[in-house]
Amino acid sequence: MQKIVIVNSKGGSGKTTVAVNVAASFAHRDFKPALMDLDPQGSSMRWLQARPESAPVIHGIAGYESRGAATRSWQLQPPPGCNPLIIDSPAGLDSRGLASVTRGADAILIPVLPSEIDIHAAVQCIANLLLSARSNNTQQKIAIIANRVKANTLGYKKLESFLRSLEIPVLATLRDSQSFTRSAGAGIGIDEMPAWQVRKDLEPWQVLMTWLEERVENGAERRLGALRSGMGRVALFPTGPAISAKSKR
Ligand SMILES: Nc1ncnc2c1ncn2[C@@H]1O[C@H](COP(=O)(O)OP(=O)(O)O)[C@@H](O)[C@H]1O
Ligand SMILES: [Mg+2]
Repeated sequence: MQKIVIVNSKGGSGKTTVAVNVAASFAHRDFKPALMDLDPQGSSMRWLQARPESAPVIHGIAGYESRGAATRSWQLQPPPGCNPLIIDSPAGLDSRGLASVTRGADAILIPVLPSEIDIHAAVQCIANLLLSARSNNTQQKIAIIANRVKANTLGYKKLESFLRSLEIPVLATLRDSQSFTRSAGAGIGIDEMPAWQVRKDLEPWQVLMTWLEERVENGAERRLGALRSGMGRVALFPTGPAISAKSKR
């Protein structure tokens, strides 16, 4: 199962908005996504509760619920067949928290708002992610989403020049738009809204989804390949004598 994690230590940057919309878009494209909410505020689980029964199914996991440690890891497992797993993370994660939620991720999305404080927080967050990364290809998994952008404002120009200076792609620039607030209230994603209402917002969103879909599909192939080569090796192990010894008894 492929894992997409949305992080930013700063609250209000759009993590939940991006997480629920990514989940809805995958569901809309015939995937069976699972959405895990690690934020005790539970916003993405509330969105899921508002989701109409007729909408394509998304499996919800309230990962913030504190239960016994023994049952917790079991509860956090999405049911078999779900793919991808989308994780909405809480604000205020330190570098250990960031390393923990992004472990094994195939894609890490960082929504950033165009303000001085938010840009500073995003730099810190990216630095923490890269410093605590165990694998050296973490940078290639990270993508930034410039969120709630009002074109030609000073905040946006600062965000733009900061983002240009990083070697991390800005995958999409999302407008400050009613499309996101309206769809959020109805438990759906912008991909599931009437096209005429969300026309201007869909284009950058499709770019983001294409990038994610490639990651999910490539990741699945890579893992299948690794599994197949592992199976080949297992077949070479000398299991024969042990089996025949058993069968003689
Ligand atoms: N592109 C956008 N346009 C308009 N409102 C947005 C957009 N992205 C987020 N919001 C609003 O901003 C607020 C904070 O977003 P949210 O996704 O909850 O952030 P986080 O999960 O990072 O705390 C919410 O009220 C949400 O509806
Ligand atoms: Mg949130």
